[in-house]
Amino acid sequence: MKPLIVANWKCNPMTQAEAKRLFNLVRRRVKNIKNAEVVICSPFVYLSSFKFQASSFKLGAQNCFWEKGGAYTGEVSAKQLSNLGCKYVIIGHSERRRYFAETDEIINRKLKLALSAKLNPILCIGETKKEREQGKTERVFKKQLEGGLEKVSNSRFQVSRTCIAYEPAWAIGTGNPCDAEEAQKMGLLIRKIITKLYNKAASKKVRILYGGSVNSKNAASYVKEVGLQGLLVGGASLNAKEFIKIVKEVS
Ligand code: PGA
Repeated sequence: MKPLIVANWKCNPMTQAEAKRLFNLVRRRVKNIKNAEVVICSPFVYLSSFKFQASSFKLGAQNCFWEKGGAYTGEVSAKQLSNLGCKYVIIGHSERRRYFAETDEIINRKLKLALSAKLNPILCIGETKKEREQGKTERVFKKQLEGGLEKVSNSRFQVSRTCIAYEPAWAIGTGNPCDAEEAQKMGLLIRKIITKLYNKAASKKVRILYGGSVNSKNAASYVKEVGLQGLLVGGASLNAKEFIKIVKEVS
């Protein structure tokens, strides 16, 4: 399995010219990389201006709507993203859970529509600092995985097309990453829960990524040292040089 490196630009940059520049810089340097899959999750508004895709370089979105489409002002559907050429969509990011009150039920509806639109969902889960201190991490994982994956079957490889990003809220944007050994432990716990929900064969196919203050210095530790299957990169993905370095470190 090739490592999956996902850039999450969040609500950046502010102009199309900057977005294109960043996209093209990264594209030029990573398009020929064979042993990693790179996904750029840009704001919706820029997606249609990025024409180029290759087998190792793909487009993704940061969110999608929980209904198929219709009279829902301001929303973007999974099908629209797929028709635009997106291959991935981030679902249930902690910033969406926190600032947009997304529940596991909403996240589950989005995830199922993403799968039916042939997108590969990247389901984000993770505990807050408080939950970790209170020893609730496993309970949080269970709730978020059971809720997020409810009625997602294993037929037609539905679940195995889903990636799980372990993103502890306390490590996101803080410069205080979860260390690789701990991320590995959390990855094993996630896999154990998925095995219980499905079976070993299905669970084996699910890629587990780490996200939270990833940079070019720590990137390799998560993938090469402890064997996670990829990274979700926020802040560092806005700096082309740094992001390219991350991709090179793990590929
Ligand atoms: P960060 O964000 O790399 O800036 O910590 C990661 C994320 O939120 O996906």
